[in-house]
Order: sequence, then C-alpha cells, then structure tokens
Amino acid sequence: MASGMLSLTCPSSSSLSLPHHFKGGAAAAGKPKLLNQASVFGKRFVNTESFTRTTMAVALNVSRFESITMAPPDPILGVSEAFRADTNEMKLNLGVGAYRTEDLQPYVLNVVKKAEKLMLERGENKEYLPIEGLASFNKVTAELLLGANNPLILEQRVATVQGLSGTGSLRLAAALIERYFPGAKVLISSPSWGNHKNIFNDARVPWSEYRYYDPSTVGLDFDGMIADIKAAPEGSFVLLHGCAHNPTGIDPTPEQWEIIADVIQEKNHIPFFDVAYQGFASGSLDVDASSVRLFAARGLELLVAQSYSKNLGLYAERIGAINIVCSSADAATRVKSQIKRLARPMYSNPPVHGARIVANVVGDPELFNEWKEEMEVMAGRIKSVRQKLYDSLRAKDKSGKDWSFILRQIGMFSFTGLNKAQSDNMTNKWHVYMTKDGRISLAGLSSAKCEYLADAIFDSYHNVS
Ligand SMILES: Cc1ncc(COP(=O)(O)O)c(C=O)c1O
Repeated sequence: MASGMLSLTCPSSSSLSLPHHFKGGAAAAGKPKLLNQASVFGKRFVNTESFTRTTMAVALNVSRFESITMAPPDPILGVSEAFRADTNEMKLNLGVGAYRTEDLQPYVLNVVKKAEKLMLERGENKEYLPIEGLASFNKVTAELLLGANNPLILEQRVATVQGLSGTGSLRLAAALIERYFPGAKVLISSPSWGNHKNIFNDARVPWSEYRYYDPSTVGLDFDGMIADIKAAPEGSFVLLHGCAHNPTGIDPTPEQWEIIADVIQEKNHIPFFDVAYQGFASGSLDVDASSVRLFAARGLELLVAQSYSKNLGLYAERIGAINIVCSSADAATRVKSQIKRLARPMYSNPPVHGARIVANVVGDPELFNEWKEEMEVMAGRIKSVRQKLYDSLRAKDKSGKDWSFILRQIGMFSFTGLNKAQSDNMTNKWHVYMTKDGRISLAGLSSAKCEYLADAIFDSYHNVS
C-alpha cells in the first residue's frame, strides 16, 4: 500500500462524514460491516480507483476482501470433515484414498521409520535443495519408474524434477504445457481423479474428456476411449492413469494398452501418465509400471508424474516427481531447465525430508526389499477385503445382480456403480462416508466391517432408486 493511502485512513467511521442511513449498526459498534460502496456513496464514487476503494474500506473498517465469496468445500476432503462430525460408532470413512491398518488406523511403514532413523543418525543438515530437488532422489525415482537399466536413463533422455508429490508434479507439467504448447488440449478420462480438472483449469490449459467408464458393465468403455482419443486434435496430451485408475479401479489390459499406444502414436498425441499407485495396485512395482514402460519402449516422448503418497505412505511429506522422456539428451536438458524456471517462482525449491526417505529406501537393497514386502502386505490387505466384500454381497443378493466387477477392479478403490441418491443413503442411513460418484476406498475398510458395508450397499442399491 502506498504511504499516501495510509495517511488517509482513520480508525473508525466516526471520523468520516457519512450519509445518515450508514451510521450505526455494526460499523458504529466498530465491527466490520458488509458494504456496497456504490450504493452507499452514489455514482460519484462508483468508478474510483482501487486507491480510493482501499482507503474507504480501511476507513470504514470493512474488509478489502469483501468481494471474495466462499469457496465450495473440496468434494473429497469434505467427506473426512463430515465423517469426523458423525458420532455413530458404526461409521466408516471410505472417502479419502489413504491406507489404514486392519484396525483402521493410519500406517507408517517400517522402512520409513528405519530410513528416518538413519537420517537422524547421520545428522544431515537442512540446507536448501537445488530447484530440481535431491539428486539421489531424482536418480532412483526415474529408475523405479522406467527400470534401473533403461537405455533412456543411460542416454540421459529423461528430465526428472522433484515435485510437491503427485499434485505438484502434475501442476509443473501443466505449467510447461501452458507455456510451450499454447492452445494444446489435455484429454482427461471421464471420470477421473477430481483434482485433474482443477490443475489444468488453474494452469489455464484447455481440456476435454474421453470416454472411459461404461455404467452398463461397470467396466471400461474401450471403444469409446479409442474413438475419443482418435477424434482429438492432433498433438493433444492424453492423460492416462498408469495403474489403478482413480476413481474406477478399472485398468486397460496389456493388449488394450498396446492399442491405446497405437492410436496415440498415429495421432501424434503426447502421452501424459499419472502414476500415483506404483506397487500399490498389484503389489509389484514392475507390473504397475508396465504401461509406462510399454510406451517408453516404443520411443515415444512422454510425461510421467509420480507420487510416493500411497506406496510409501508419505502423504504429508509431499514427495513425487515429474519425468519428461525426450527424444534426445539435449532436449531433456532444455526441458529440465524450463521446468526449473517454472518451479522457482512457485515454491523456489522442494522439501528435503521425503526425498531423503525415498532415496534411502530405494537406494539401499535391504530397505528396498523390505519396502516391497510391506507393499505386498498393504496391497494384499486391500485385495482380501475386496474379495470379502464381494463374497458378502454375493451371499446376500439373490436378485441375480452380478457384483463380480468388484473383483475385476484394482487398487485402492472400488467404483460401486451407486448413483448420488444411493451414495447419499450410504452416508445418511449407514454412516458410510464416500464420494458422491459411488467410489469407495477399500484401503479404509477392515475385514470386520465387510459384512456391514455389504448390507449398506445391498440396501442402497435395491431400495433407493
Ligand atoms: C490419480 C491420482 N493422481 C495424483 C494424486 C496425487 O496425490 P498426491 O498429491 O498426494 O501425491 C492422487 C491422489 O489421490 C491420485 O489419485
């Protein structure tokens, strides 16, 4: 604020000569009051500069943020808030995709605790990281994704920059698209993780949707997907979930991935993978990276955002990466320099703690093996509640309804096929908290609660239209 503005301000409305009707009430009592400046001061002030507005707002003890309206609650994070407020003892939070133990408690992996102990013993400092992040992290994260001896890495054709987990890495890539591919469209699956649209909207990148989910089979609409990718303008970015599609839990088969790659190649599109669940879907890091590796092996240039929120349980550490596979080392160097340029004014440089955990776990053969074992246990627990939920539904439901789609889905989530009214019934009657698109997070379900959940789904499906 300019110093001249400050000299004009006064502590309360009493020092200004105001129209009669404006005095009194909250303003006179010294409380902020909502004001419509135009109606109060008449035409003479309507088109005044922000200088005057600011001055008047301060003078009248009114917030200068008056025109900012209330934002709607986040559809996913809002579910947890509602869950916390519910006092029913049967309540179940299947909204947020975070792993829980069989006792439905948050879980810190043993390998994470071991890596943190090592870090503490070493007494590592807290100096700033370079803009691109921790070198040892960037090395292991690209290797984990593409395979340690992948020629792309050896030929230095991969630009890897540490990001603020999956979201921040996607956002960096969106900023790169906005700056260097003006007007290019991003194709997003319908449905997709809710934040995808926010990310591209905020980066001012145009997007449209391709068909993905077929409600009649609760499966993949493969023909629709292929047709929409084919119909998109040449050179579009195609956002693909590397594994464990969120929210549907429906992944293409290896054969379908090949066809998707064919179409993307034919149309000169650029594949853009979001890999938020590597190792968490099948229990194997390699199997879950196979879609990305298939595209990379074809020599395609591609983008991959990675997250360690789920597979290492590092949700709050905000650790992930953006990898851009380029056709030459020279291009990769230039691309990396521009991603760093985008990151610098956004957050300067990334946090070190999570990056060191990943680097220590992946870089140490013993810890790495232990991580794989723990991941198998986590993925195994989710698979077992998935099976149990299916078994319970099958035993209860004699209507002929086929629930086997639950078993065909993969990863943390199951898309139940319940509509909004039915999902509301799940919450209002059964205290089961879930997103309104019918998605449930099986990572928040215990074996003990499978029967109860099956009752809730059965009732909602058959008794609510
Ligand atoms: C598909 C997908 N992408 C990205 C993310 C990003 O998560 P984070 O920013 O916590 O790494 C998530 C998290 O739920 C996700 O499901």
